[in-house]
Amino acid sequence: MATAAIKDDDPRIDAKRDIPEVSGIPLVGNTLEMSRDPAAFFLRAYREYGPVYRVNVFGRRTIVIAGPEAGMFMTTREGRDSLRSKEFWGDFVNFHGASKTLTGEDGENHEKMRRIMRHGFSKAAVAGQYHRLVEITDEAIARDWLSRAQVPVVEAYQYLIVQQLGEIMTGSAPLEYVRDIRINILYLLNTLVTKTRPKFMLHRSEFRKANARVNELGREMIKDFRSRAAAGALPNNLLGDVMRAHESDPELIQARDLALLLTGPYVAGLDTVANTIAAATYGILKTPGVLERVQQEADTLYGRDVVTEHDVHNLPAINGAIMEAMRLWPIAVAQMRTATRDFIFAGHVIPEGETIYIGTSVPHFMHEFFPDPEQFNIDRYQRPRAEHLQKGAYSPFGRGPHSCLGQSLAEVQMATTISRIFHRLELALPSPDYVLKTKSAPTPGPSMDFKVKVLGERRPARKLTPEPREEK
Ligand code: HEM
Repeated sequence: MATAAIKDDDPRIDAKRDIPEVSGIPLVGNTLEMSRDPAAFFLRAYREYGPVYRVNVFGRRTIVIAGPEAGMFMTTREGRDSLRSKEFWGDFVNFHGASKTLTGEDGENHEKMRRIMRHGFSKAAVAGQYHRLVEITDEAIARDWLSRAQVPVVEAYQYLIVQQLGEIMTGSAPLEYVRDIRINILYLLNTLVTKTRPKFMLHRSEFRKANARVNELGREMIKDFRSRAAAGALPNNLLGDVMRAHESDPELIQARDLALLLTGPYVAGLDTVANTIAAATYGILKTPGVLERVQQEADTLYGRDVVTEHDVHNLPAINGAIMEAMRLWPIAVAQMRTATRDFIFAGHVIPEGETIYIGTSVPHFMHEFFPDPEQFNIDRYQRPRAEHLQKGAYSPFGRGPHSCLGQSLAEVQMATTISRIFHRLELALPSPDYVLKTKSAPTPGPSMDFKVKVLGERRPARKLTPEPREEK
């Protein structure tokens, strides 16, 4: 059906078909299938119904646009003008009594906020600190890995990542808050953002305690930064940038937004990085021939006294394993948006105000782009194969205006950490036939009970020499 903004005879409209509804179970619709394995569900529906379909999940009927064409659409001018992110984050922002957050802003304000935070969220923030990333990994190895025969992988990585992000972005590592941050993220994303759990869960004492602790962390960070600002000593990191922006444009970065912005890196980085490197750890240990190649590369890397950004990028086996983890276990199976206006996609009119899932991960599982898609194959990304470079094929960091601001930081953080773990430790799966179990909420990834055996220490914790800062 055409609308006021789009004429009936627009040649791009395929008038023969309405948006197809994906078959499901009476009453619950597609909720169970989607909760079990969202990536497989979006792929099945794409194969059966094409790039546009309607699903019935969690009591809501939602349009999905999926496949390489959807990923490409997000980066076009039309896609940027037709999609917004605001609605999904509204409840989250209100819950915090804030006026805005980066993920929930669109248009000009969003661009301004990204400009403020770009440097602090990028790999520039870690320049000169690769040796610190490695030292933090060594501290985590001593604390959480060598002391146990079996290590819960996701949890161990969560502690490590909080320490790394904390030091890089804020100058301190709130390790004593890790559990609270995790619980807080879990409840808030599930109830207020993806809305896959009912809001009354926020009354549970487990959440209320964790939330009070995270608020306390936010207040402490603001107090600390206010006193540093008063002394004219704001650091050159994400939080320094946010505080400077608050001082120079208090309308844009309001006082009530600070706590959310200051604890934001943990929401954005904790589950995403921990889940991805846990999945990479599984792929490396599970796939014949990969462990040896990863160990060899890691040993060469840490045979050096100084490790630079260039060295960390130049790890084809390790980076291939991380890219495979992000392809097979994407943390953002789909992106959630609202249509800002009527627009046409793949022959259908998508009406203004509709809620949309954008299934950008569907091509990750398509043999047309990734032959033997279920195989963990770390060589896909090397030229001339470069399977990920096909149009719309690979989008682990999202696409368009809200694509991951922390991508370059996450990439170096993951490569440094995985290489150090496999350089230092001899790990094994609980058994050779072990198959990874996954969770889908709040962030898809390996389940919390995924454990590896620590068979021993391969190499000692030799400190690196701090790398010289490159002037840019
Ligand atoms: C494996 C690691 C990571 C993956 C796969 C990942 C993936 C993503 C994806 C898919 C989005 C887009 C969501 C959307 O469009 O709705 C996103 C946004 C974002 N990510 Fe990441 N992320 C990772 C790590 C990080 C880290 C370490 C940080 C920083 C600490 C970070 C900061 C952000 C921010 C700030 C945004 C919001 C951008 C905006 O709304 O403009 N991410 N990420």
